[in-house]
Amino acid sequence: MPLPGFRDFLPADWAERNYIFAKWREVARRYGFVEFDGPPLEELELYQKKSGEEIAQQLYEFVDKGGRHVALRPEMTPTLARMVAAHHRDFRKPLRWFSIPQVFRYERPQRGRLREHFQLNCDLIGEASPEADAELIALAIDILRAFGFTAQDVVVRISDREFWTEFLKSERVPEERWPDVLQAIDKSEREPREKIVETLGPLARPVLEIFEKGGESTKLRGILENLRARGVGDFAKIDVRIVRGLAYYTGTVFELFDRGGKFRAIAGGGRYDQLVAQLSDGATSLPALGFAIGDVVLGEMIRRHEVARSELERALAQDPAIDIYAVIAKPERRADALAIVQQLRDRGWRIEYPLGSMNIPKQFHAAEARGARLAILLGDEWPQVAVKDLAAGRQQLVAREQLIEYITAALP
Ligand code: HAM
Repeated sequence: MPLPGFRDFLPADWAERNYIFAKWREVARRYGFVEFDGPPLEELELYQKKSGEEIAQQLYEFVDKGGRHVALRPEMTPTLARMVAAHHRDFRKPLRWFSIPQVFRYERPQRGRLREHFQLNCDLIGEASPEADAELIALAIDILRAFGFTAQDVVVRISDREFWTEFLKSERVPEERWPDVLQAIDKSEREPREKIVETLGPLARPVLEIFEKGGESTKLRGILENLRARGVGDFAKIDVRIVRGLAYYTGTVFELFDRGGKFRAIAGGGRYDQLVAQLSDGATSLPALGFAIGDVVLGEMIRRHEVARSELERALAQDPAIDIYAVIAKPERRADALAIVQQLRDRGWRIEYPLGSMNIPKQFHAAEARGARLAILLGDEWPQVAVKDLAAGRQQLVAREQLIEYITAALP
């Protein structure tokens, strides 16, 4: 058994993971994003200082053999900001970068939340206008659309940290208390009302009032307008109850949810205009925003959604393990079979043959079980080879010299 909250990926599970990754990459590239990666292990300090209290408590941390305090990455954003602070001069702004890291958080394993997961991170760096906020939210929406989800299935709830920091200023809350208050607001939907009242104290009444009344801003309305112009406005709504748990957000924040409210957040992100400056001790100041979508909730939603599931099944069925199986009907043909197998593999075909001696029906069974479209049989007719189309059941004798050409024509 793997450790609690960790997964074994058997080949079928990994094929599903790859399907998700392929769609993520495809849509991110449509928006001009390029892929990068960073180290899975970083200095502990990077997360203690930048991610905020909640994640700091969930770190997989240890002292390495060189005495360094390190942690497995619980998220990608601090690494990205560190990399950008060091290398941004080499790139034209804004940067459109994406990455698919596996990240680690010591959370209580539950539905939709594990101790490792893969995340697509998309970040836009070096552009301060709300146009960038809308562009990024549109990308998040398009990722879900690519799997077959519609505005009836999912919703992006968009909010603004500035709305809340203005509120905290007007209530004269000292700045050192802001992170705690914002975290309490972030958790409020998942906690009973009494608990919120207890944590927020005198702030509880005005906060709950805002929850009921709702809130807005010109900036948020502009973002909605932008999404409507693209024809994806139905996916989005303004909802100031979203504040996000991470410490570094400074402006627009958003989270994606299933409309039915059955699952935890599918994705989340926002603007973090100070993080690059903080990581370069003020040497570089770059506005930035991004989001991450995890594979756990998304995978569950795909499996429970008719269209998304059949799309996944269709894609997996189209990708069997092999194209061709070489049936060796006589032991003395083994060397000839190897020569053909090698030639076909050199041309890129996926091909298998029996490694030990096996009767002919068993070999045909193996061919079908592995999903081969063609079987080639080396037997009595040699130097002719029987080529069988396994789906159609048709068989054709082909001369050895014409075999490669014949197969290339037979397989699209
Ligand atoms: P986050 O909201 O902590 O944001 O995580 C983003 C997504 O990762 C969540 O919406 C969820 O799908 C998935 N996720 C988080 N924790 C778990 C877990 N324990 N198990 C399974 N899935 C999980 C961030 O990580 C930010 N760094 C996103 C970002 C990028 N902000 C700016 N750029």
